[in-house]
Amino acid sequence: MNMHKYEKIWLYFGTLTLLIFLIVVGVSAFYMGNQPPSCAVTLNPENVDKTAPFDDPGLREIGENEYQLTIVASAFNYDVGTDDKVVEIPKGATVHFNATTKDVVHGFELAGTNVNMMLEPGYISTYTNTFKHAGTYTLVCNEYCGTGHHLMAATIEVIE
Ligand code: CUA
Repeated sequence: MNMHKYEKIWLYFGTLTLLIFLIVVGVSAFYMGNQPPSCAVTLNPENVDKTAPFDDPGLREIGENEYQLTIVASAFNYDVGTDDKVVEIPKGATVHFNATTKDVVHGFELAGTNVNMMLEPGYISTYTNTFKHAGTYTLVCNEYCGTGHHLMAATIEVIE
């Protein structure tokens, strides 16, 4: 078969780009452990208040400077286990966020960090973050959820 020179070059180029793409995806998935977020963890959204650990939201120390923060979202509130909706954690702490919603879809964005999730009824959303810098971080809802959407907020204080 007679193939034009340019046709061959493009064929090699296309095959090469495909190989590079597969190598990048393969290394990322199997060597670096990057996986798409999974929605495999479910709960009954009508029984959130009776399902551990969401029956008792708040901060728990689970290791050396390691915490689990359980949060229940509802229109238009984040229950973080404190009356003033402020959670204090020490600088350098690793926090495993564990959140769900009792009613509609809510956002879960901790401004200034990579913590950014969607909370869906019936699913548990998790994210782990290490707070290397002291400061005040605001947890905001970034999914429109109703008339009080702009009122949904809580605060994480990272103290020295
Ligand atoms: Cu909750 Cu917007």
